[in-house]
Amino acid sequence: MKAGQRIADVLRQGQVGAMVDLRGWVRSKREGKTHAFLDLNDGSGLAGIQVVLTRPDFDGQLLALTVGTAVAIAGELVASQGKEQTVEVQAQAVTVIGPADAETYPLQKKRHSFEFLRTIAHLRARTNTFGAVLRVRNACAQAIHQFFQERGFLWVHTPIISTSDCEGAGEMFAVTTLDPRKAAAPASQPDFFGKPAFLTVSGQLEAEALALALSNVYTFGPTFRAENSNTARHLAEFWMVEPEMAFCDLQGDADLAEAFLKYVFTQVLHRCAEDMAFFQSRIDPNVLANAEKIIHESFARIAYTEAIELLHRSGRSFQYPVEWGLDLQSEHERFLAEEHFGKPVIVMDYPAQIKAFYMRLNDDCPPERQTVRAMDVLAPGIGEIIGGSQREERLDVLTSRMQACGLDPEVYWWYLDLRRFGSVPHAGFGLGFDRLVQFITGMGNIRDVIPFPRTPLNAEF
Ligand code: 4AD
Ligand code: MG
Repeated sequence: MKAGQRIADVLRQGQVGAMVDLRGWVRSKREGKTHAFLDLNDGSGLAGIQVVLTRPDFDGQLLALTVGTAVAIAGELVASQGKEQTVEVQAQAVTVIGPADAETYPLQKKRHSFEFLRTIAHLRARTNTFGAVLRVRNACAQAIHQFFQERGFLWVHTPIISTSDCEGAGEMFAVTTLDPRKAAAPASQPDFFGKPAFLTVSGQLEAEALALALSNVYTFGPTFRAENSNTARHLAEFWMVEPEMAFCDLQGDADLAEAFLKYVFTQVLHRCAEDMAFFQSRIDPNVLANAEKIIHESFARIAYTEAIELLHRSGRSFQYPVEWGLDLQSEHERFLAEEHFGKPVIVMDYPAQIKAFYMRLNDDCPPERQTVRAMDVLAPGIGEIIGGSQREERLDVLTSRMQACGLDPEVYWWYLDLRRFGSVPHAGFGLGFDRLVQFITGMGNIRDVIPFPRTPLNAEF
């Protein structure tokens, strides 16, 4: 079977009078007196193509052409009589490739709730919304690579199996070949790696090693967190983009994060105009205005201490306390980004006690108000979308900070070596890729922007 043409290409460039050969799935069927009409979609774009079947020539086949059926259509591209499309296909031959039983096929031509669609994640890519999400997701990934490649960053591949807890939060999935169903393994039987191993929560520590040789690098891959968070913004398996730059400080890091988001939004608006218009009309009427704002307005930048003051002065009653030294909760982040600034805000210089061990200590802080060179980018509708920092490059400071955080410096010997040999100021950040797709599309739940979500008690498919 030779591949047919892509419907999106035919709709864009097809010449009236040309013969076309299309493959796809029937999204809907309408039967009139003289003609029947199929909406054929192959995922190449939001719009399917209308296929016209002359009656009674195709009557023998109509019964089999149910919603969900995979078909091949050969015919002529003609100007459409209808208002909805400019061209359509006058079918000459229709072949059913894979039938779909109308009684049991779960996707009928009506609106299904996203909750229901999650239960049929293997089929939901055949809906308008998920097709659009997956095309935007693809365009985001391409834009990310393009952004870094244009700037000379190398894409590096950090391990998925790791023996260190980068974020120190203890939220890791264990990787083992020992069978937990068998009684405690005899001490003589070592585990596969000879020490506890986990799925990585971040490629940052390894990316730092590579940046301190290659200057500018980035990772783009899956990361795993065993946090028991059942929210619309958390996945147990999510994708993260982590640039790391040698000879860079916190300001340079924030500049990169801002330029990066602007670039990705610009590319996606350009490449996925049709899908973005769909999100605007069906998901969130502010999607396009928000995107324009991201692209054209500069982000706000404030210190954590200032953020706490703004929250105090807001007069709002929040569910979680607002106090210097406590982490910002989602409600606080969203107040700042959505209501106070109405655009992304980069919050910097967080208290050391709420941030990871590797962040550079700010000099000249009173001991009770010690801050680190951290930055979080908070986005309207999402909250934290990027977390990053300038890294602690001083061996003695890093070692004592690790000890204060209860980490054994011996375990991190290689990470400390990077501070022994040719250490330089360096910085980087992590972007939650799935949150970015949410941010761009306006989709409310992170489970609906990744094909097969992994969340607590949910790993079907
Ligand atoms: O803020 P985080 O934990 O930072 C790091 O992992 C650093 N090592 C990154 C670095 O500096 N190289 O995570 C980074 C981002 C968050 O801002 C958020 O967007 C996303 O990853 N993220 C999640 N996305 C979906 N589900 C989860 N459970 C997430 N946890 C973090
Ligand atoms: Mg964070």
